[in-house]
Formats: sequence, C-alpha cells, structure tokens
Amino acid sequence: MANHQSSGGVSHEKVETNNFLMIVLILITLLFGGMVEIVPLFFQKSTTEPIAGLKPYTALQVIGRDIFVREGCYNCHSQMIRPFRAETLRYGPYSLAGESVYDHPFQWGSKRTGPDLARVGAKYSNEWHKIHLNNPRDLVPESNMPAYPWLEKNLVDETTIAAHMTGLRKVGTPYTDEEIAKAAEDVKGKTEIDAVIAYLQVLGIHRK
Ligand code: HEC
Repeated sequence: MANHQSSGGVSHEKVETNNFLMIVLILITLLFGGMVEIVPLFFQKSTTEPIAGLKPYTALQVIGRDIFVREGCYNCHSQMIRPFRAETLRYGPYSLAGESVYDHPFQWGSKRTGPDLARVGAKYSNEWHKIHLNNPRDLVPESNMPAYPWLEKNLVDETTIAAHMTGLRKVGTPYTDEEIAKAAEDVKGKTEIDAVIAYLQVLGIHRK
C-alpha cells in the first residue's frame, strides 16, 4: 500500500475506502448545498408574491383546474415558458415564479406532446375550445390529443368547492368568506367543459 499521512481525525484514505462513511459525507454535502439553494426561495419576494394583476382562480376555474389534473392534461402539456428565444417567440413572455403562487400544485411540467399552455388564455374562443375538447380532430386533423366528450355531459360537483377553497386559503390564496360562501351557488348547473374552458381562458392573461 502507498504511504499515506494522517494528520489525525478522518484521513482521506479512510473516506475513500469506507463506503458507509463516503455515503454519509456525500449526503451531508448535498443537504447543505440544497439548503443554500432552496431555503432563500421561501423568503424572496420574487418567488412568494403574486405578480401585478394576478387574480386567484374563481370557483369555476378551480374546478376546471381539478379536471385538468384529473384528466392528466399535464401529461402532454407543460405550463412553463422557458427563457429562450424560440420559446418566447412561440408562446410569449417567459414564465415567472410569481405567476404560480395560487397554483397548488403547480402545473409547470416539461413534457410537451402538445404545446405549452401557460399563455393559452384568450388565444381562442370558448366555442373553439368546446369543439376542440369534444374532438380535437374536428379542428386540427393531424392532432393526437384524446377527445374528452364526457366533459360536456357531466355536471360539476358543487358540494366540495367551498371546502377546497377554504383549503387553498390556508395555503395563501386570499379568498374572502363571501367568495367561499357563494362558491357552490356560482358553479351549480355548470358542466365540466364550462369549468375547463373557464380555467384555460385565464392562463397567462395577466401578462401578455
Ligand atoms: C396525448 C397528449 C395530449 C393530452 C393528454 C392532451 N392534449 Fe391538448 N394537445 C395535444 C396536442 C398534440 C395538441 C396540438 C394539436 C391540437 O391543437 O389538437 C394539443 C392542443 C391543445 C390545445 C391548443 C393549444 C394551442 O395553443 O393551440 C389546448 C387548449 C389543449 N390541447 C388542451 C388540453 C386539455 C384541457 C387537455 C386535458 C383535458 C389536453 N389538452 C390533453 C396533446 C394532448
């Protein structure tokens, strides 16, 4: 074996020949590095405060967002425009953390079988979305997006929305008691497609 010098404590050779010690020290290093990078984000205004003009989702939009998650739309659609020229030319201004403060959980993603939806709000009419969600091929013949014909037939479930909004308020969305109290009434009788479209139509409109 080569000579090695130990100046007391843990010698380098000991670290490199002891798997357990090596793993523990690597974990400590990663933990420290991670904390230095992540912890400040919880306290920075740019990541915790909503950007100017951002409004909390209405009751119908919250339900639409839940349906978006239920149907797995995020498997094909990201909602995060990266700060690259090709992206901003195609989709508009790149996404900021302050745009997602009311999103629990956020829908950023990176999988793009279909286009990014971060700024799809107001791009098409409600009628366009209705036809598209019922059968994408009616509008885009080469589309491989699935059809969602049941959205038009199902009524939204208004019984859980007040509790849901109360939960969102606990994690920082500034709903008033009044908004929560009339949430069920606001969405009663609407269909799931109404809810999804209401949600899609506000994505990114605060920053075009
Ligand atoms: C299997 C992948 C896939 C899934 C799942 C999917 N999409 Fe798509 N989506 C696409 C593709 C591909 C396109 C582009 C062609 C088109 O417009 O149909 C698209 C286009 C769109 C567009 C138009 C975007 C634009 O800027 O032109 C919207 C809006 C949309 N999808 C919403 C949804 C919603 C809402 C869901 C869930 C209910 C969903 N998609 C699920 C693949 C998917």
